[in-house]
Amino acid sequence: MPTPHNTTLPSYACPQILAGQKALVTGASSGIGKAVAIGLGRAGADVVVNYVSNEETAREIVSQIESFGVKALAFKADVSKEAEVQAMFKAMLDAFGTIDILVANAGLQRDAPIDAMTLEQWNTVMAVNLTGQFLCAREAVKEFKRRGVREDISVAAGKIICMSSVHQIIPWAGHANYAASKGAINMLMQSMAQELAPLRIRVNSIAPGAIRTPINRPAWETPEAYAKLMDLVPYNRIGEPEDIAQAAVFLASDMADYITGTTLFVDGGMTCYPGFDEGG
Ligand code: BGC
Repeated sequence: MPTPHNTTLPSYACPQILAGQKALVTGASSGIGKAVAIGLGRAGADVVVNYVSNEETAREIVSQIESFGVKALAFKADVSKEAEVQAMFKAMLDAFGTIDILVANAGLQRDAPIDAMTLEQWNTVMAVNLTGQFLCAREAVKEFKRRGVREDISVAAGKIICMSSVHQIIPWAGHANYAASKGAINMLMQSMAQELAPLRIRVNSIAPGAIRTPINRPAWETPEAYAKLMDLVPYNRIGEPEDIAQAAVFLASDMADYITGTTLFVDGGMTCYPGFDEGG
């Protein structure tokens, strides 16, 4: 059985299924966003690495992506600020000419019992997790509509991947703001998918379960915490950021061309409600 520190992912050859595409990944300087940005670059896309505070790491990620022979650009922007999002899209269009793939990933937690939750904790989570995805999606859709399908690049006019969570359906005591933001992402994603499908713009979500990133470090960093976490994960290992990157590459590619308006759960079975594995 895997222990906290020896998860081995299957190795795979990565085909260049995103060659020539231009991608933006928000919140790409750590955790899931970092892995997704690297994964898209490995699959042949040019990538804008958005970050809000960690410039040095963002630049290292840019170098790593460039080593695949594609272009990469680090851009600082707070996705909850309209002017900063617009400046980021302008910089991307100036540098890369267009956008084909948006991974609206930036997200955070500000946990508190409901009666102790401050308005600031509530608003911060909503601003980044929900409004941030709206602002980025809006700018991406403007460009997808202006440009239409690039026949030599992809059969779709654009792809949006919203980073959700298992907590779009699993209630989470002590994290009501976070769970509410992810529940809302589902309706934002599906409504955009319905509106944009006639234009061949695909919109989907990925709902990660427990992934080994800084956001949930206390849940996996000690053997005791890890063992307790496994009560919630039938597949008996924590998810790695690369598990999410592989799902993102697939959803962004034409292999997923008939997939829109759906959520891909990448959670080792967490949403199979393992608490019911005996009786009920
Ligand atoms: C949260 C993590 C948590 C996971 C599973 C994610 O969306 O950000 O903190 O470990 O859901 O509960």
